[in-house]
Amino acid sequence: MERTRRLRTSAALRSMVREEHVRVDELIYPIFVMEGNNICSPVDSMPGINQYSIDCLSEELDRVKEVGIKAVLVFGIPEHKDEVGSGAYDDHGIVQEAIRYIKANYPELLVIADVCLCEYTSHGHCGLICNGEILNDETLPLLAKAAVSYAKAGADIVAPSDMMDKRVAAIREALDENGFINLPIMAYSAKFASGYYGPFRDAAHSAPGFGDRKTYQMDPANGQEALREVEEDIAEGADLIIAKPAMAYMDVIKEISLNYNIPIVAYNVSGEYAMVKAAAMQGWIDEKKIVMENMVGFKRAGAKMIITYHALDVARWIKEEE
Ligand code: PBG
Ligand code: ZN
Repeated sequence: MERTRRLRTSAALRSMVREEHVRVDELIYPIFVMEGNNICSPVDSMPGINQYSIDCLSEELDRVKEVGIKAVLVFGIPEHKDEVGSGAYDDHGIVQEAIRYIKANYPELLVIADVCLCEYTSHGHCGLICNGEILNDETLPLLAKAAVSYAKAGADIVAPSDMMDKRVAAIREALDENGFINLPIMAYSAKFASGYYGPFRDAAHSAPGFGDRKTYQMDPANGQEALREVEEDIAEGADLIIAKPAMAYMDVIKEISLNYNIPIVAYNVSGEYAMVKAAAMQGWIDEKKIVMENMVGFKRAGAKMIITYHALDVARWIKEEE
């Protein structure tokens, strides 16, 4: 007679039959780099997360190195913004300088550069604007220019998060033309117009100045459409696919993993982080248990890698268990 409890009788047996594991190698830690000096400024809505100027970045990167994390995702906060987001593709912009600093001082760390305009535009949108409309095709050359500029600074992977159509093809072509044929694109393919990005926009000063992002990011109701986005991005040359947010979109991660043979990255976003942190700080939940349960949930859903603000803690917890 079947009794599923038989395989749960001891810790050793449970660990033998465990299907999924979260590994430090699979974690990607986002960092916010701000123009200026002597800055280590806490983000109120993301307890534990700070904005750093480059001269203070080693505090954070030493921790990353110590816990064994292999990859960081870099976001920039420029001093000046303009209509066309020129800080994103300025060869001496904040992200370009941060990449150079990281590659010079932490050469073994994989640097992933987020490619978007919203942190650099005065209106806070991810593309160029004309008469209140977010332009698609006119934005593509700027995204491509930013990607090439990050590649030249030493980025190992570029990650377009803008959700313009055909940006992966535009970026791929520009990278290839500039000799970066082996530089992978991690595309934010299934990126939904989500309320869960609120704390990130505090951290990156990137909230849209008017309207919302619903004409370019996806409707949270559309799981099937996410598959079309993934298909397009793969056809255009994406090497890795991001699904974002993660927790409320586990079904999307699962569907992608069942339909496509490509590594999936779950982005456990700022609002998801903030909710867990807030409850943990109240003593209402067990932070370690809840976070690790979320992480293994992403793996079970089919994610290969996880971008998470919890990465330092997760890496420490994994080490403790070893
Ligand atoms: C920029 C970008 C955003 C996030 C990643 N890249 C914000 C947005 O689209 O408004 C969100 C990350 C998070 O919430 O943790 N386009
Ligand atoms: Zn953006």
